[in-house]
Amino acid sequence: MQTIDATVIAREKTAVAEAAAQRVEPRMLVGLGSGSTALKLVDALGERVAAGLEFVAVATSEQTAARARRWDIPLITGPVPPRIDLVIDGADEFDAELRLVKGGGGMLLREKIVASAADRMLVMVDHTKRVEALGAFPLPVEVVPMARARVKHHLRRLKLAPELRRTADGQPFTTDEGNVILDCHIGRIERPAALAATLAGVPGVVEHGLFLDLADEVLMAVGDEIEVFTRG
Ligand code: 5RP
Repeated sequence: MQTIDATVIAREKTAVAEAAAQRVEPRMLVGLGSGSTALKLVDALGERVAAGLEFVAVATSEQTAARARRWDIPLITGPVPPRIDLVIDGADEFDAELRLVKGGGGMLLREKIVASAADRMLVMVDHTKRVEALGAFPLPVEVVPMARARVKHHLRRLKLAPELRRTADGQPFTTDEGNVILDCHIGRIERPAALAATLAGVPGVVEHGLFLDLADEVLMAVGDEIEVFTRG
């Protein structure tokens, strides 16, 4: 099995976050994603704000918002504005059509709401995130807590192998919205759009981690290089 050097990945995340931060222009309304790469993005943008850049941000998680506040990045709180110029976020997987799996950090609901409001979605990833077919990464499905047993049963019958996400101390993981996550160990997803439609139709499912037709561009760090993929 191939071993992946954690320091190489960390360096790639920093490099791609710094490249993505250069895409923010003065006076933009920017969605800030979530996860370790997104935190590096916030740090890179914080440096630009300290140097005089002015823009306004919408955070996709409490964690990202806290980091942005540390840098005095102005944040819109409350309802997400109906139109955002640009969202910049990480991903757990992407394929050749720039379809994504997201939600490894459990912030998929806010991430998808902000992405759907954005004119453009820019994705930042290290080289391990590129896949030939989605599904090796367990697909997160966010579920209303009272529906958790029923939805799990339903997804099991669909052969999606759902597993309740737990915290390190064994408690059910809770999202910023107070929901739980079922991680589905599907393997290769042959028809992502059909699966997305199926999941959207299950009562109790709030959102799922398939981000289809949302990403416009992916920046992928490979060592010291940044590769750019654009949706045709
Ligand atoms: C959080 C996400 C993240 O963007 C995804 O998990 C990638 O995270 P990282 O940048 O830490 O590799 O979807 O819900």
